[in-house]
Amino acid sequence: MSLLDIHVLGSPILRQETTPVERMTDELRRLIDDMFDTMHAAKGIGLAAPQIGRSERIAVIDVEDNPIVIVNPEIVITEGSAKAEEGCLSIPEIYGDVERPARVTIRALDRDGERFELQASELLARCLQHEIDHLHGKLFIDYLSFLKRRSALAKWESMRKDFPQNIRKFPPGEMAGRHGEEAL
Ligand code: NI
Repeated sequence: MSLLDIHVLGSPILRQETTPVERMTDELRRLIDDMFDTMHAAKGIGLAAPQIGRSERIAVIDVEDNPIVIVNPEIVITEGSAKAEEGCLSIPEIYGDVERPARVTIRALDRDGERFELQASELLARCLQHEIDHLHGKLFIDYLSFLKRRSALAKWESMRKDFPQNIRKFPPGEMAGRHGEEAL
């Protein structure tokens, strides 16, 4: 098991487009294992490759003990709309309400490179959309109103000195999730 450093807001890779994976390899499967370990250590329910400084189009999700790997995911159907609070492992301690489609159908490859389709609602639908956004350089704060975004960024500015080089490390015994909230 190895824990990866998490890039936080301000790290340029969080705003970059990812590159589709052409072929699953053992190296990528090891990366996926490390992403799950890192996400669980950080008490998150989703983690996308740019958040650990990688440019592959890969994310991992674990909502209600249902681990899912999505490689090259695409949203093919959206329905309805729902608003709920989101957080992000790359923007610790900042939360905000985000309105998104309530239900989605996605297509992706799994860790073996096999295609699959998944229909989701509620928290899983939200998490899938949040992670797929990460794979295209988009963050949940982009959806906040001007005023809410401004106050979130002001709070972030006061905290970012805690993250030198825009990196969040997880020393043993000092894990995140201080408020017991789920971050994506
Ligand atoms: Ni996130």
